[in-house]
Amino acid sequence: MQVSPFARIEMAPPDPIIGLTEAFKNDANPKKVNLGVGVYQDGAGKVPILQVVREAQERLQATEDTKNYMPIDGIPAFNQQVQSLLFGADSAVIAGARAVTVQALGGTGALKVGADFLKRFFPASQVWISDPSWENHRALFEAAGFTVNNYPYYDSETHGLDFASMLNALKALPAQSIVVLHACCHNPTGVDLSQEEWLRVVDLFQTTGLIPFLDFAYQGFAEGIDADAFAVRAFAEAGIPCLIANSFSKSFALYRERVGALTIVTPSEEEAARVRSQVKRVIRTNYSNPPSHGAQIVAAVLADAELRAHWEIELAGMRERIHQMRDLFVRRLREKGVEQDFSFIRRQQGMFSYSGLSREAVDRLRNEYGIYIVGSGRVCLAALNEKNCEYVCEAIAETL
Ligand code: LMR
Repeated sequence: MQVSPFARIEMAPPDPIIGLTEAFKNDANPKKVNLGVGVYQDGAGKVPILQVVREAQERLQATEDTKNYMPIDGIPAFNQQVQSLLFGADSAVIAGARAVTVQALGGTGALKVGADFLKRFFPASQVWISDPSWENHRALFEAAGFTVNNYPYYDSETHGLDFASMLNALKALPAQSIVVLHACCHNPTGVDLSQEEWLRVVDLFQTTGLIPFLDFAYQGFAEGIDADAFAVRAFAEAGIPCLIANSFSKSFALYRERVGALTIVTPSEEEAARVRSQVKRVIRTNYSNPPSHGAQIVAAVLADAELRAHWEIELAGMRERIHQMRDLFVRRLREKGVEQDFSFIRRQQGMFSYSGLSREAVDRLRNEYGIYIVGSGRVCLAALNEKNCEYVCEAIAETL
């Protein structure tokens, strides 16, 4: 028999985040807790379907009359709604038709379409991501053919931002370097820039010719829909050409429907049209056109005043529960006798806490207690509830 052409292919390492979910599913420990992947769970430990999503889904099912192909760049009404969420409905960018938005397969898909587009037109550029950054950023931009570097970001002494080092590093980059910025709810640290710091970053981009790529996967999870868009709007209002990858996985809990968008801000309507034509080529040669279901739901909710108001309430509910879990986590650790100060967790934003737990502690938590945490020590607080928090804090206390 012929030797398989795949005979020499080596086993790839498990994905540092999704791989944990796979291992978690196979774990027989009845007390197991998955604090790995960034997925919101309600107080009962369920990944809920939002009420507004159910409602919009029912309406769509009653009216849907075709399964024909979608446009390459997705549903126009969805793309319009995305721009309103990103820039605010009365934005000059929208009025001037200066931004291109294409529907994408979640935030990750938006990043990849953006990366492939950039590689075509800036093949010599390098990519800069924060230190640390979302596990998949490096892999994704490397997969698009880029060399990926880190700029300083997190200060482990203060559990805050090392803004001076970040700014100095960005200042030194050659023009057309691609800089990936987390617009809010930094993943994995939960440490965001203040509005003042964002304005200083925007100033820097005005003179250096760098290409900002804002990853905006958590709109509504820090302070609110508009407040969380501060960085995106500051770049857009300053007229800085930039890319924005946004996601509805978290804000609509539509994880498996893969709904997101890539938006590219340009200086003119004419330039936007040329950019759109090229982004469409990237999509066409990749997956041709996107799926419709999730984007129809998002567009329907955002276009209907009543559904939108309900969505904002449900989103606020998720945000507030995570804030409560931050507080509970810090209090329970103290109650379980942990002397180390974890109060910084209250200051972090979004789903994650960069806990500072060592690799050894992470391994022990997994092997001895069935508690799954990303290797960097990133904990998904959105998966904690009153019940499992007790167990998790007890385990951490015994592990430290
Ligand atoms: C995460 O960081 O856990 C999420 O963004 C899910 C993912 O795709 O990694």
